Amino acid sequence: MKEKLEHIRQHAAQDILRAPDTGALEQVRVAYLGKKGELTLLLKQMGGIAAEERPVVGQLANAIRVDLENMISERSRVLGEEALNKRMIEEALDVTIPGKRTPLGKKHPITIVLDEAKDIFIGMGFEIAEGPEVEDEYHNFTALNTRPGHPARDWQDTFYLSEDSRVLLRTQTSPVQIRVMERKKPPIRVISPGRVYRKDEVDATHSPMFHQLEGLVVDKGITMTDLKGTLVQFVKMLYGEDARLRFRPHHFPFTEPSCEVDIMCFECQGEGCRVCKGEGWIELLGAGMVHPRVLEGCGIDSEVYSGFAFGIGVDRLTMRRFNINDLRLLFENDIRFLSQF
Ligand code: DAH
Repeated sequence: MKEKLEHIRQHAAQDILRAPDTGALEQVRVAYLGKKGELTLLLKQMGGIAAEERPVVGQLANAIRVDLENMISERSRVLGEEALNKRMIEEALDVTIPGKRTPLGKKHPITIVLDEAKDIFIGMGFEIAEGPEVEDEYHNFTALNTRPGHPARDWQDTFYLSEDSRVLLRTQTSPVQIRVMERKKPPIRVISPGRVYRKDEVDATHSPMFHQLEGLVVDKGITMTDLKGTLVQFVKMLYGEDARLRFRPHHFPFTEPSCEVDIMCFECQGEGCRVCKGEGWIELLGAGMVHPRVLEGCGIDSEVYSGFAFGIGVDRLTMRRFNINDLRLLFENDIRFLSQF
């Protein structure tokens, strides 16, 4: 009987130590110590042994039970610890790993310059006006003193949207002048930036879509001096004090007198170089005193009021501002180029 007990103790101890998880350990406990376990069944056979041996065997059996129970709880603790360690390793979260960066967008160089230009004009008391990119022939041409037959109306130059030439993509931001004067009486001080369209082939200085910034001032006693002062001040604020402008006589149907304004080449300071194509100056804008016919067409008395207007090439303004030598770079949307600004 004693040997049988010791035999059970040995086997049970081995099984306990080998149990791979708590489920298996419970099975081992039931197999030896449960109601129908080996140890329990063996003790039921106690009746068959000599009376004087019973207490000894009983004591031994109890000691074995206690030993095995202790072993089981120790094994259970070890298994629990192992399982926890395993989970800690598997589910580890390294809080020191840097997060994923979301790349931040940037302003397009044209937008940067446009924002600067708007700030400067707003500081001078101008308001911002908007007009449609799909215009009618009246606002784009007729009201701007540009009659049928004028070369600017040519099919070669203009994107007409209808066969009868009534609707077109605006060729300039000047029609916004008309829309403002139809709505509002003087004093008027507005700028209007936006896209314009012409049938131009793409090259380093041309694009069928480009940007202009229109300006219009109408009030009593406005003269060419106001025009010059405003533009010189604008250019100095944008490019710095040493920026120089040159005013040349020119012709526009909607201004009289008219001029074109050049800025001294930043590369050669007027000497003539590759950037300015030997001119020493770079054309920046068209301007003039608003033609009396244009004022009258909008119901403004040209005997009482006068005004000046200008249209600045925003893309040129941007190229000059950042020393960009090819207009196409502004429209190709190459991130490598755009992320430099
Ligand atoms: N609209 C002209 C152009 O596209 C530029 C211009 C010239 C605008 C004279 C004006 C102006 O407002 O007064 O070439």
